[in-house]
Amino acid sequence: MSNYYDWIADRYDVTRPLPTSISEQVADCILNLVKATPETTFLEPGIGTGRTSFPIIKRGYPFTGIDISPPMMAQLRQKLQGIPNRLTLIQTDASSLPFADNTFDVAMTTHMLHCLPNWLQGLAEIRRVLKPKGIYLACENLLTEHQKAFEKPLREFLALYQSEVKALPQEGPRLRPFGQEMVQVLTEQGATVEIITAARWRLEQTVGELLNVYRMKAVGLCWTAPDQVFSKAMAKFIPWSHENYGSEDVRLASEATFEITVAHNWASG
Ligand SMILES: C[S@@+](CC[C@H](N)C(=O)[O-])C[C@H]1O[C@@H](n2cnc3c(N)ncnc32)[C@H](O)[C@@H]1O
Repeated sequence: MSNYYDWIADRYDVTRPLPTSISEQVADCILNLVKATPETTFLEPGIGTGRTSFPIIKRGYPFTGIDISPPMMAQLRQKLQGIPNRLTLIQTDASSLPFADNTFDVAMTTHMLHCLPNWLQGLAEIRRVLKPKGIYLACENLLTEHQKAFEKPLREFLALYQSEVKALPQEGPRLRPFGQEMVQVLTEQGATVEIITAARWRLEQTVGELLNVYRMKAVGLCWTAPDQVFSKAMAKFIPWSHENYGSEDVRLASEATFEITVAHNWASG
């Protein structure tokens, strides 16, 4: 498998819930922020299923999405069936963008740069293809408190079995927020940076829905462990969850946020 996302494309959106009203709110925020006109050109490297950008594409803005994974982009094409749009989708590597310098008014990424072997190179490519007055938006919609608390015992079971078989973790994306690191790099490169909370909402999920994310092996935690380690950890984690929460119907909730690190005057430097 060249890209793990090829394999999880059909489960991607359902395992990363972003309510429609919230993604519309995020789109409103982005369009206001960049003072979009009907001709504002957008680029999203690692567009995936369009989980973030779908509402912007749907509103007809000229939008270019690139991704290494055809199945992820196929999900987006399917969602857009029958909806007029000005989307160009290209299968390519974000480490080397096939666009001339100074092409786009706005570039945005959501949870993509960490997938690259060298995220600074991906960032340099984005800077290169942005117009001098272009705006870069690094979006983050990270795990909530209830999601982190829910997966903590699974992480512990994984660590236990991992050390038992003395297996090295398989290579996979390093899942970490860029947050302050991103702010520092962009600032050092001359950008004026602000962090905006585009949306804040209460995310509610049942224990069953949360368990399904791991049953479907739909997040990074599941694919960095060797298969036998993951199976053993799940065999412990599922009964543990039933005992701890009482039922798969129990609802857990906490505050979710969609944050955007906005870089102005970055590409002109
Ligand atoms: C975590 S997903 C994010 C998808 C989407 N941006 C979102 O908001 O949910 C990461 C995406 O980056 C893509 N990707 C991974 N490595 C890539 C690369 N080298 N070049 C382009 N896209 C890549 C994956 O196929 C996947 O669609």
